[in-house]
Amino acid sequence: MGYRFTLDDVAFLRSRHGSKALSTAAGLDLSSSSMLADIGELRRRYAPHDGALVETILCRRRARTKLAAAQDMLFTDDAMQQATASAVARHRATEIGERFAGAVVHDLTCSIGAELVELSASPGVGGVIGSDIDAVRLSMARHNTSLGDRIPTLLRADALTPTSTADIVIADPARRSGAGRVFRLDQLTPPLLDVLTTWAGRPLAVKCAPGLDYRVLRDRYGFSGQVQITSLDGSVREACLWTERDGEPRRRATVLRTQPDSTVRSFEVTDDTDDDVAVAEAGDWIVDPDGAVVRAGLVRQYAAAHGLWQLDPQIAYLTGNSVPLGERGFRVLEVTGIADRELRRRLSARDCGTLEILVRGLDVDPDSLRKRLKPKGSRSLSLVLTRIGRKGVGFICEPGARF
Ligand SMILES: C[S@@+](CC[C@H](N)C(=O)[O-])C[C@H]1O[C@@H](n2cnc3c(N)ncnc32)[C@H](O)[C@@H]1O
Repeated sequence: MGYRFTLDDVAFLRSRHGSKALSTAAGLDLSSSSMLADIGELRRRYAPHDGALVETILCRRRARTKLAAAQDMLFTDDAMQQATASAVARHRATEIGERFAGAVVHDLTCSIGAELVELSASPGVGGVIGSDIDAVRLSMARHNTSLGDRIPTLLRADALTPTSTADIVIADPARRSGAGRVFRLDQLTPPLLDVLTTWAGRPLAVKCAPGLDYRVLRDRYGFSGQVQITSLDGSVREACLWTERDGEPRRRATVLRTQPDSTVRSFEVTDDTDDDVAVAEAGDWIVDPDGAVVRAGLVRQYAAAHGLWQLDPQIAYLTGNSVPLGERGFRVLEVTGIADRELRRRLSARDCGTLEILVRGLDVDPDSLRKRLKPKGSRSLSLVLTRIGRKGVGFICEPGARF
């Protein structure tokens, strides 16, 4: 838990004096060795807002790669961590603008406004409303959204009270404090099922943590919409539940990748495409599909689209004689058993020094295996461990490379 901002802090940070104070704070190191002196300096000049200044600058630094406008934004540490990354929010905003051209969109849990910023910048979106129950976050959203060309309407409201006639509604319930990685639907705030009930009949996109077991929603609560799993740069970020997508796939993986020039490329895999793939011996390459594809249960569809095949019907590693563009592939040098002694012998014969270990379907901890194998050579290699049927199999590969 970071510094607790007050409305007075936010008003100060938004004022001309506060803006100058932020510039001063941004010029300070704020490192562990300088922190006491830096805080002393800020307290002398800007008390009682010194804590707000320090927290804002530290959050801005931490948010640099996540939020495009981080350097000018206001947030609490929690709100920054909960905020949707700009690339993910932009993808959703663009999709909403294209699918519901001219629609007014209401973000029911807008927090500091990370989604509102992107919705307001999406030319296809007709109008934007943001609301949140937390007055401090809302006042920060007011600042953050004032940086763009189009300013959304903001109001303090409970997401479980219908407060607008917007054409489409989005929400991003938070995990209640104390709920761990695995959590129940009623540990979300506002509770997911209550949001779905309150806004029933309106197209709704609800962003959830990727750990949410969305199958429970289907099986137990009859949710019949689409589940979209999104990853950014290889890390799975969210599951988004879309209602009202008649005639559309029920599962979708969206893979976003930041390019060297900072643009973001995307591709999608959906469950309404061919999933007819063979199960056979390894080809020249092992391909480890993106986590969004795996989490969405679309490995076969992805394989079929790229001419790959499976090593085992239950395992997400794929294989083929080429690697899809943009994906990470491992060129197979040899197939091996998985006993330590055999692995040690074969890796040593290849002069292995640095070893990356990937595991699926086996109870093997890569770090402890690497410690046991103690590779001492000069060459970098990758070891892909998995099971085919009930048998553990290893693939000694050249280091993984992205194509
Ligand atoms: C995960 S955050 C949303 C983050 C936001 N999508 C973003 O990208 O910055 C969840 C938000 O829900 C708000 N919230 C919790 N319960 C609420 C309720 N009943 N009504 C409205 N907002 C609520 C919290 O104050 C918090 O700001």
